[in-house]
Amino acid sequence: MPDKENDIIVCRCEEITLGEIRGWIDRGCDTVGEIKRVLRAGMGPCQGRGCQDIIMREISRRLNIPLDQVEAGTVRPPVKPIKIGLLADGGE
Ligand code: FES
Repeated sequence: MPDKENDIIVCRCEEITLGEIRGWIDRGCDTVGEIKRVLRAGMGPCQGRGCQDIIMREISRRLNIPLDQVEAGTVRPPVKPIKIGLLADGGE
């Protein structure tokens, strides 16, 4: 069962599995920001809304540290695609 568990997709936007995240936690990544930098987990269109909490819980569980002591990722404002013509017209 553990192998199947590692195949679970945690970050749906970037298709990052639980096994990949566990691997980097075992290599010393202990913050969401570090996981984000090495795997791009949390950098998809939802900006981590779908995966950040799961990654934080996995760091907490794997390193046996309280969840409230796990450093969360940087929150960025939502980015939405816009038509290039809008920029060409001066953005109004
Ligand atoms: S689910 Fe991870 S960035 Fe969207």
